[in-house]
Amino acid sequence: MIQNKVYSSQDIDFNIQKLQDLPMPGKLLMCEPTYFDILDVKNVHMEGNKGNLDKSKAMYQWKILKATFQNTIKQDILTEVAVIQGAEGCEDMVFAANQSFPWLDANANKMVIMSKMRHPSRQREVPFFKAFYEEMGYKTIELQHTPMFEGMGDLIYHTGKRLLYGGYGHRTVIEAYDELSAILQCPIIALELVDPNFYHLDTCFVSLGTDAVMICKEAFNQSGIDALHKMYERVYYIPKEEAIQHFALNAHTLFGQNNDNKVCVIQKGAQYTGNVLRREGFQVVEVDTSEFMKSGGSVFCMKMMFY
Ligand code: ARG
Repeated sequence: MIQNKVYSSQDIDFNIQKLQDLPMPGKLLMCEPTYFDILDVKNVHMEGNKGNLDKSKAMYQWKILKATFQNTIKQDILTEVAVIQGAEGCEDMVFAANQSFPWLDANANKMVIMSKMRHPSRQREVPFFKAFYEEMGYKTIELQHTPMFEGMGDLIYHTGKRLLYGGYGHRTVIEAYDELSAILQCPIIALELVDPNFYHLDTCFVSLGTDAVMICKEAFNQSGIDALHKMYERVYYIPKEEAIQHFALNAHTLFGQNNDNKVCVIQKGAQYTGNVLRREGFQVVEVDTSEFMKSGGSVFCMKMMFY
Protein backbone atom coordinates (compact mmCIF):
# COMPACT_ATOMS: atom_id res chain seq x y z
CA MET A 1 0.00 0.00 0.00
CA ILE A 2 1.37 3.41 -0.94
CA GLN A 3 0.86 5.84 1.91
CA ASN A 4 -0.26 9.43 1.53
CA LYS A 5 2.77 10.89 3.28
CA VAL A 6 6.06 12.60 2.58
CA TYR A 7 8.76 10.40 1.08
CA SER A 8 12.48 10.91 0.70
CA SER A 9 14.65 8.78 -1.57
CA GLN A 10 15.50 6.08 1.02
CA ASP A 11 11.89 5.32 1.90
CA ILE A 12 10.42 5.07 -1.59
CA ASP A 13 9.06 1.53 -1.58
CA PHE A 14 6.78 1.68 -4.64
CA ASN A 15 7.11 2.08 -8.38
CA ILE A 16 5.17 4.13 -10.90
CA GLN A 17 2.99 1.20 -12.04
CA LYS A 18 1.53 0.98 -8.54
CA LEU A 19 0.21 4.55 -8.58
CA GLN A 20 -3.31 5.56 -9.47
CA ASP A 21 -3.92 7.61 -12.58
CA LEU A 22 -4.48 11.35 -12.31
CA PRO A 23 -6.44 13.11 -15.07
CA MET A 24 -4.37 16.02 -16.40
CA PRO A 25 -5.96 19.49 -16.42
CA GLY A 26 -6.80 20.86 -19.85
CA LYS A 27 -7.36 24.53 -19.01
CA LEU A 28 -4.74 27.21 -18.59
CA LEU A 29 -4.95 30.40 -16.56
CA MET A 30 -2.86 33.54 -17.06
CA CYS A 31 -2.78 36.92 -15.36
CA GLU A 32 -2.43 40.11 -17.39
CA PRO A 33 0.81 41.97 -16.45
CA THR A 34 -0.87 45.39 -16.21
CA TYR A 35 1.01 46.32 -13.02
CA PHE A 36 4.06 44.11 -13.57
CA ASP A 37 7.19 45.74 -12.15
CA ILE A 38 10.50 45.05 -10.41
CA LEU A 39 10.38 46.88 -7.10
CA ASP A 40 12.66 44.75 -4.93
CA VAL A 41 14.86 41.64 -5.00
CA LYS A 42 12.88 38.50 -4.17
CA ASN A 43 15.29 36.11 -5.89
CA VAL A 44 18.87 36.29 -7.20
CA HIS A 45 17.73 36.79 -10.80
CA MET A 46 16.18 40.14 -9.82
CA GLU A 47 19.47 41.59 -8.57
CA GLY A 48 20.33 44.82 -10.40
CA ASN A 49 17.03 44.84 -12.30
CA LYS A 50 15.10 47.41 -10.27
CA GLY A 51 13.82 50.05 -12.67
CA ASN A 52 15.29 48.13 -15.61
CA LEU A 53 12.05 46.92 -17.12
CA ASP A 54 10.58 47.68 -20.54
CA LYS A 55 6.90 47.50 -19.63
CA SER A 56 5.48 47.73 -23.12
CA LYS A 57 7.86 45.02 -24.29
CA ALA A 58 6.73 42.88 -21.35
CA MET A 59 3.08 43.30 -22.35
CA TYR A 60 3.93 42.41 -25.96
CA GLN A 61 5.84 39.27 -24.88
CA TRP A 62 2.96 38.24 -22.61
CA LYS A 63 0.44 38.59 -25.44
CA ILE A 64 2.56 36.39 -27.71
CA LEU A 65 2.83 33.78 -24.96
CA LYS A 66 -0.95 33.88 -24.56
CA ALA A 67 -1.46 33.45 -28.33
CA THR A 68 1.03 30.56 -28.28
CA PHE A 69 -1.01 28.76 -25.64
CA GLN A 70 -4.26 29.59 -27.47
CA ASN A 71 -2.86 28.02 -30.66
CA THR A 72 -2.66 24.64 -28.93
CA ILE A 73 -6.48 24.60 -28.60
CA LYS A 74 -6.64 23.92 -32.36
CA GLN A 75 -4.24 21.01 -31.85
CA ASP A 76 -6.59 19.45 -29.27
CA ILE A 77 -4.13 20.06 -26.46
CA LEU A 78 -5.52 22.85 -24.27
CA THR A 79 -9.28 23.28 -24.05
CA GLU A 80 -9.30 26.88 -22.80
CA VAL A 81 -7.07 29.83 -21.93
CA ALA A 82 -8.55 31.97 -19.15
CA VAL A 83 -7.20 35.35 -18.06
CA ILE A 84 -7.56 37.27 -14.82
CA GLN A 85 -6.72 40.93 -14.52
CA GLY A 86 -3.62 42.11 -12.70
CA ALA A 87 -4.21 44.14 -9.54
CA GLU A 88 -2.55 47.39 -8.54
CA GLY A 89 0.09 46.88 -5.85
CA CYS A 90 0.70 43.26 -6.95
CA GLU A 91 3.76 43.62 -9.15
CA ASP A 92 4.46 39.87 -9.44
CA MET A 93 0.90 38.70 -10.04
CA VAL A 94 1.66 37.73 -13.66
CA PHE A 95 3.46 34.67 -12.24
CA ALA A 96 0.27 32.65 -11.99
CA ALA A 97 1.99 29.38 -11.07
CA ASN A 98 2.50 30.41 -7.47
CA GLN A 99 -0.72 31.46 -5.72
CA SER A 100 -2.49 28.10 -5.77
CA PHE A 101 -2.42 24.38 -6.38
CA PRO A 102 -5.53 22.96 -8.12
CA TRP A 103 -6.34 19.27 -7.76
CA LEU A 104 -8.99 16.62 -8.44
CA ASP A 105 -9.83 14.34 -5.53
CA ALA A 106 -10.42 10.61 -6.02
CA ASN A 107 -14.11 11.30 -6.75
CA ALA A 108 -13.14 13.90 -9.36
CA ASN A 109 -14.23 16.85 -7.22
CA LYS A 110 -12.33 20.06 -7.96
CA MET A 111 -10.35 21.49 -5.06
CA VAL A 112 -7.59 24.06 -4.76
CA ILE A 113 -5.02 24.80 -2.10
CA MET A 114 -4.36 28.52 -1.64
CA SER A 115 -0.68 29.39 -1.20
CA LYS A 116 1.08 31.03 1.75
CA MET A 117 3.42 33.33 -0.12
CA ARG A 118 6.73 34.27 1.42
CA HIS A 119 6.67 37.97 0.45
CA PRO A 120 3.96 40.39 1.67
CA SER A 121 3.38 41.93 -1.78
CA ARG A 122 2.75 38.45 -3.14
CA GLN A 123 0.40 37.52 -0.29
CA ARG A 124 -1.93 40.20 -1.65
CA GLU A 125 -2.27 38.27 -4.93
CA VAL A 126 -3.83 35.16 -3.42
CA PRO A 127 -7.43 36.42 -2.80
CA PHE A 128 -7.80 37.36 -6.48
CA PHE A 129 -7.02 33.80 -7.49
CA LYS A 130 -9.26 32.42 -4.77
CA ALA A 131 -12.17 34.40 -6.18
CA PHE A 132 -11.46 32.98 -9.63
CA TYR A 133 -11.58 29.40 -8.34
CA GLU A 134 -14.77 30.02 -6.38
CA GLU A 135 -16.39 31.18 -9.58
CA MET A 136 -15.15 28.01 -11.28
CA GLY A 137 -16.87 25.84 -8.68
CA TYR A 138 -13.78 24.76 -6.76
CA LYS A 139 -13.64 23.97 -3.08
CA THR A 140 -10.91 26.34 -1.83
CA ILE A 141 -8.66 25.25 1.02
CA GLU A 142 -6.51 27.37 3.35
CA LEU A 143 -3.51 25.66 4.94
CA GLN A 144 -3.66 25.64 8.74
CA HIS A 145 -0.17 24.54 9.79
CA THR A 146 2.02 25.84 6.97
CA PRO A 147 3.72 29.24 7.02
CA MET A 148 5.20 29.03 3.51
CA PHE A 149 4.02 27.22 0.36
CA GLU A 150 4.16 28.68 -3.17
CA GLY A 151 1.75 26.52 -5.15
CA MET A 152 2.77 24.93 -8.43
CA GLY A 153 6.03 26.84 -8.31
CA ASP A 154 7.18 24.17 -5.86
CA LEU A 155 4.64 21.33 -6.10
CA ILE A 156 4.52 19.53 -9.45
CA TYR A 157 2.75 16.32 -10.42
CA HIS A 158 4.15 13.20 -11.98
CA THR A 159 2.36 13.54 -15.33
CA GLY A 160 -0.71 11.30 -15.33
CA LYS A 161 -0.15 9.80 -11.88
CA ARG A 162 -1.21 10.50 -8.30
CA LEU A 163 2.29 11.36 -7.16
CA LEU A 164 3.70 14.80 -6.42
CA TYR A 165 7.19 16.26 -6.19
CA GLY A 166 7.58 19.00 -3.61
CA GLY A 167 10.53 21.40 -3.72
CA TYR A 168 11.51 23.15 -0.50
CA GLY A 169 14.19 25.38 0.98
CA HIS A 170 13.48 28.87 -0.42
CA ARG A 171 9.75 29.55 -0.84
CA THR A 172 8.19 26.47 0.73
CA VAL A 173 8.98 24.74 4.03
CA ILE A 174 9.26 20.94 4.04
CA GLU A 175 6.57 20.75 6.76
CA ALA A 176 4.05 22.02 4.18
CA TYR A 177 4.11 18.62 2.56
CA ASP A 178 2.87 16.78 5.66
CA GLU A 179 -0.26 18.90 5.58
CA LEU A 180 -0.56 18.75 1.80
CA SER A 181 -0.16 14.98 1.45
CA ALA A 182 -2.95 14.52 3.99
CA ILE A 183 -5.31 17.02 2.34
CA LEU A 184 -4.62 15.90 -1.22
CA GLN A 185 -4.54 12.20 -0.22
CA CYS A 186 -1.42 11.75 -2.29
CA PRO A 187 2.21 10.68 -1.71
CA ILE A 188 4.68 13.57 -2.04
CA ILE A 189 8.39 13.12 -2.71
CA ALA A 190 10.17 16.02 -1.01
CA LEU A 191 13.14 17.49 -2.90
CA GLU A 192 15.48 19.94 -1.23
CA LEU A 193 16.54 22.86 -3.47
CA VAL A 194 20.15 23.68 -2.62
CA ASP A 195 21.08 26.46 -5.09
CA PRO A 196 19.48 29.96 -4.87
CA ASN A 197 19.37 30.21 -8.67
CA PHE A 198 16.75 27.47 -8.50
CA TYR A 199 14.49 28.86 -5.80
CA HIS A 200 11.33 27.11 -7.02
CA LEU A 201 11.08 23.51 -8.25
CA ASP A 202 9.71 24.82 -11.54
CA THR A 203 13.06 26.45 -12.33
CA CYS A 204 14.96 23.14 -12.41
CA PHE A 205 12.46 20.33 -13.20
CA VAL A 206 10.42 19.70 -16.35
CA SER A 207 8.21 16.64 -16.78
CA LEU A 208 8.46 15.03 -20.20
CA GLY A 209 5.60 12.60 -19.50
CA THR A 210 5.20 9.50 -17.34
CA ASP A 211 8.66 8.09 -18.07
CA ALA A 212 11.03 11.02 -18.44
CA VAL A 213 12.07 14.26 -16.77
CA MET A 214 14.67 16.99 -17.36
CA ILE A 215 16.43 18.52 -14.37
CA CYS A 216 19.42 20.63 -13.43
CA LYS A 217 21.27 18.29 -11.12
CA GLU A 218 23.10 21.13 -9.32
CA ALA A 219 19.73 22.29 -7.95
CA PHE A 220 19.26 19.10 -5.89
CA ASN A 221 21.16 17.05 -3.33
CA GLN A 222 22.12 13.43 -4.02
CA SER A 223 19.07 12.07 -2.25
CA GLY A 224 16.79 14.11 -4.52
CA ILE A 225 18.58 12.96 -7.66
CA ASP A 226 18.34 9.34 -6.48
CA ALA A 227 14.60 9.73 -5.87
CA LEU A 228 14.04 11.00 -9.41
CA HIS A 229 15.99 8.09 -10.87
CA LYS A 230 13.75 5.71 -8.96
CA MET A 231 10.61 7.26 -10.44
CA TYR A 232 11.66 7.99 -14.04
CA GLU A 233 13.14 5.71 -16.69
CA ARG A 234 14.95 8.63 -18.27
CA VAL A 235 16.40 11.56 -16.31
CA TYR A 236 18.09 14.17 -18.53
CA TYR A 237 20.62 16.55 -16.99
CA ILE A 238 20.47 20.01 -18.52
CA PRO A 239 23.62 22.16 -18.22
CA LYS A 240 23.39 24.66 -15.37
CA GLU A 241 24.31 27.66 -17.59
CA GLU A 242 21.41 26.92 -19.93
CA ALA A 243 19.01 26.48 -17.02
CA ILE A 244 20.09 29.84 -15.55
CA GLN A 245 20.65 31.98 -18.64
CA HIS A 246 17.66 30.80 -20.66
CA PHE A 247 15.36 29.53 -17.91
CA ALA A 248 15.33 26.32 -19.96
CA LEU A 249 13.85 24.31 -17.08
CA ASN A 250 10.96 26.70 -16.70
CA ALA A 251 9.58 25.38 -19.99
CA HIS A 252 6.00 24.16 -20.07
CA THR A 253 5.20 20.77 -21.59
CA LEU A 254 1.69 20.11 -22.87
CA PHE A 255 0.21 16.77 -23.83
CA GLY A 256 -2.67 16.04 -26.20
CA GLN A 257 -5.52 13.90 -24.97
CA ASN A 258 -3.95 10.62 -26.19
CA ASN A 259 -0.45 11.70 -25.26
CA ASP A 260 0.44 11.58 -28.95
CA ASN A 261 0.60 15.31 -29.52
CA LYS A 262 3.35 16.81 -27.38
CA VAL A 263 4.30 20.48 -27.37
CA CYS A 264 6.88 22.30 -25.27
CA VAL A 265 6.78 26.10 -24.94
CA ILE A 266 10.21 27.35 -23.97
CA GLN A 267 12.29 30.51 -23.74
CA LYS A 268 14.34 30.88 -26.92
CA GLY A 269 18.05 30.04 -27.05
CA ALA A 270 18.17 26.81 -25.04
CA GLN A 271 19.82 24.56 -27.62
CA TYR A 272 20.79 21.55 -25.52
CA THR A 273 17.32 21.43 -23.98
CA GLY A 274 15.68 21.83 -27.40
CA ASN A 275 17.55 18.75 -28.64
CA VAL A 276 16.44 16.68 -25.65
CA LEU A 277 12.85 17.78 -26.25
CA ARG A 278 12.95 16.85 -29.93
CA ARG A 279 14.50 13.48 -29.12
CA GLU A 280 11.56 12.90 -26.75
CA GLY A 281 9.10 13.69 -29.56
CA PHE A 282 8.10 17.25 -28.61
CA GLN A 283 7.24 20.04 -30.98
CA VAL A 284 9.39 22.85 -29.57
CA VAL A 285 7.83 26.32 -29.64
CA GLU A 286 10.21 29.13 -28.66
CA VAL A 287 9.04 32.41 -27.17
CA ASP A 288 10.84 35.44 -25.73
CA THR A 289 10.22 36.13 -22.05
CA SER A 290 13.29 38.33 -21.49
CA GLU A 291 11.42 41.00 -19.47
CA PHE A 292 9.97 38.38 -17.11
CA MET A 293 13.31 36.63 -16.69
CA LYS A 294 14.53 39.88 -15.11
CA SER A 295 12.05 39.07 -12.34
CA GLY A 296 13.15 35.44 -12.10
CA GLY A 297 10.41 33.79 -14.13
CA SER A 298 9.62 32.47 -17.59
CA VAL A 299 7.03 30.29 -19.33
CA PHE A 300 6.04 27.80 -16.63
CA CYS A 301 5.73 30.54 -13.99
CA MET A 302 3.42 32.63 -16.15
CA LYS A 303 0.48 30.23 -16.16
CA MET A 304 -1.51 27.80 -14.04
CA MET A 305 -3.09 24.59 -15.30
CA PHE A 306 -6.57 23.98 -13.92
CA TYR A 307 -9.53 21.62 -14.31
N1 ARG B 1 9.54 37.71 -9.01
C1 ARG B 1 8.78 36.52 -8.70
C2 ARG B 1 9.15 36.04 -7.31
O1 ARG B 1 10.29 36.13 -6.93
C3 ARG B 1 9.03 35.47 -9.73
C4 ARG B 1 8.21 34.22 -9.54
C5 ARG B 1 8.49 33.19 -10.58
N2 ARG B 1 7.64 32.08 -10.48
C6 ARG B 1 8.00 30.79 -10.52
N3 ARG B 1 7.04 29.89 -10.49
N4 ARG B 1 9.24 30.39 -10.51
O2 ARG B 1 8.33 35.58 -6.57
